[in-house]
This record gives sequence, C-alpha cells and structure tokens, in this order.
Amino acid sequence: FSLKGHNSFGIDVRADKFISIENVDDLRSLLRKSYASELFILGGGSNMLLTGDIHKTVVHIALNGKKIVSETDEEVIIEASAGENWHEFVLWTLEQNYGGLENLSLIPGNVGTAPIQNIGAYGVELKDSFVSCKAMNVQTLEEQTFSLEKCEFSYRNSVFKNQLKGQYIITSVRFRLTKENHQLNVDYGAIRSELEKNAITSPGIQDISNAVIAIRRSKLPDPKEIGNSGSFFKNPIISQDQFKELEEKFPEIPSYKISDNEIKVPAGWLIDQAGFKGYRKGDAGVHKNQALVLVNYGEATGAELLVLSKNIQKKIKDQFNIDLEAEVNII
Ligand code: EPU
Repeated sequence: FSLKGHNSFGIDVRADKFISIENVDDLRSLLRKSYASELFILGGGSNMLLTGDIHKTVVHIALNGKKIVSETDEEVIIEASAGENWHEFVLWTLEQNYGGLENLSLIPGNVGTAPIQNIGAYGVELKDSFVSCKAMNVQTLEEQTFSLEKCEFSYRNSVFKNQLKGQYIITSVRFRLTKENHQLNVDYGAIRSELEKNAITSPGIQDISNAVIAIRRSKLPDPKEIGNSGSFFKNPIISQDQFKELEEKFPEIPSYKISDNEIKVPAGWLIDQAGFKGYRKGDAGVHKNQALVLVNYGEATGAELLVLSKNIQKKIKDQFNIDLEAEVNII
C-alpha cells in the first residue's frame, strides 16, 4: 500500500497493510488483537518525514464528528473527533461565530494530532483554547481524559511527544471558544499589515482568519502542489549571552524574548543567511519564500530530504554555533 497520498511531503513509501478506523470500538478491538509494536498510527500525516517503507500495519485514525458539550451566553465547549481535518474544523467554528481558533487557520493536519505538538501560529497556540482530550491507552485499551495541565504543553511540545510517546492514541479534543467578546490576537505585525491593506479597522474573527490565510498562502507552499511539512525545524532558544555574541556579528538578527535568559531566534532567518533559501538538489529543496520549509518537488525520497536537513543543521552549527532541532517527526 503506497502512503504517498497520506503524508503531506508526498513521499512514496509503502506500508505492509493499511486500515482506516472510523470509531472508537473498532480501534479498541484492533488494539486488542494486535501488538502495539506492529501498528503505526497515522493522523493527517502532515508533520512527518517518511524515510523508508513501514513494515507494520498503518492505522489511519478516521474518527469523525463534532458536538457542543455545553454552553453559556459567552462560551461554548466543543468536542471534535481526532480524524476531523483541522482547517475544516476551524472554518466550521468561524461559521458558528465561535472565537479562539482563527489565528490557527490553514494549518495542515487533523484535530487529533494537533495537541501532540501544541500547534501554533501568529501568536496563538492550541493550548490557549484547549480544555482536555481523550486518548486510548494502547496497553489497557481504556480511554482516559487528559486535562490541560496533564498535557504539559510548551512550544511545539507536549507529554505525548515525551514521557507518553507511543502509549496513547488521541481520540477527541475539547476546546473552549467564545460566543461574544472575542479576544482577538493581532500581535503579529503581518496580521496588522494584512488588515490595513484591506482597510479593515475593526476586525472580527473571520477577518483575522482571512488575514492568516492570506499570509500563509503567500509564504508557505500548498502541500497539494508542492510536498512539505510546514516548518521543518523548531525555532531554537538560546541564552542571552550567546544571543549578545551573535548580535555583535549579525546586528540585524531577529529575536523574541522568552524569559530573562532565553531568546528565541527564527530558524528561517538562520537558514536564509546560510544561503539555503531556494536551494534545490534533484527534487529535494528549500522553499523560495520561507527557508524553514523543506519541499519535495515531486519524486524526492525521504532519505534525500533527510540528507538535506542534516546539511542545513551542520552549516547552522558551523556558522552560528546553534543546534537546530527537527520539528517534523523523522520516521
Ligand atoms: N525569515 C527570514 N528568511 C526566511 C524565513 C524567515 O529572514 O526565509 C525571518 C522573517 O523575516 C521573520 C522571522 O524569520 O523575521 C520569522 O519568520 P516567520 O514569521 O515566517 O515565522 P517562523 O518563525 O519562520 C513560525 C512557526 C510557523 C508559524 C509562524 C507564524 C515554528 C517552527 N514555526 O515560523 O509554524 O506559522 O511562526 O506564527 O515555530 C509550522 O510549525 O509548521 C509552522 C508553519
């Protein structure tokens, strides 16, 4: 079974077997009759680089549905199943005039994988509207509820990427969204410029979503046209001392303060400075508008993209003494 259509990088590797799971009971009975080590759980396939065939049964989580759990005049709690497409879910919340997810428009992937890396964009992260998620323990087959606190969210990270890696399958996620007095986040300069460009002076949640969509379309390649997995690396966080040294050599270096001693530096800027923007070898390359995004122009293999990513890491280490960490899961 080819996985080409099931990973946003469009890598043509094969799986021994492929099963689509549409309800929680089927997931439980599949887990009951298999060893967890024989299964490979697949969500939207938008945050991974497949570097070889998968000699396992690929389990595609296709649990669908969304419902209102409770509401007041001001707020609503929505539960969405893991297999819902993220962006379609966001558009649905906007149609209902529910606020909170508008800055996270157009992020590829599914609802169930969004908490694993605490997806984020334009000043907002999933954790900001997250209430809880349900996840099935692959050993005990019990569905457990994980509160916000138990998920241990941080920048592109959660407990599901660390201590609990491989032990749970997220089946649904609950969000707290606003019905009125929406808290708009327009901290990002690019959003403000986009609104100004369209002469929008008192924006609503739909305007923010439209602005984010326009910004993303201008910088990020559409995976349907050019294979990619969004940002390939995390933005590195370095010490104040190291940042000062760098700033002396590169006065124009952009940065965001995280704490008194931690500075986040955009990996895209570093990779751009290192001369990789628009680089291409065979069908593996670095996007021409955003150096943080590696792309597959068609027939690149996962191995070729992995080599490219390692070359980038080496160059950044040599030039800036910074270790870039992959954001994408390398399989
Ligand atoms: N930059 C360059 N050259 C480039 C790319 C970026 O100089 O080729 C500079 C930009 O000029 C800007 C800075 O780097 O000063 C940051 O760039 P940008 O605003 O495009 O954001 P980013 O840091 O590259 C992060 C997230 C994105 C998210 C955007 C917007 C990570 C790893 N990436 O990218 O998330 O959409 O901010 O919030 O945190 C993703 O995770 O897949 C993703 C796309």
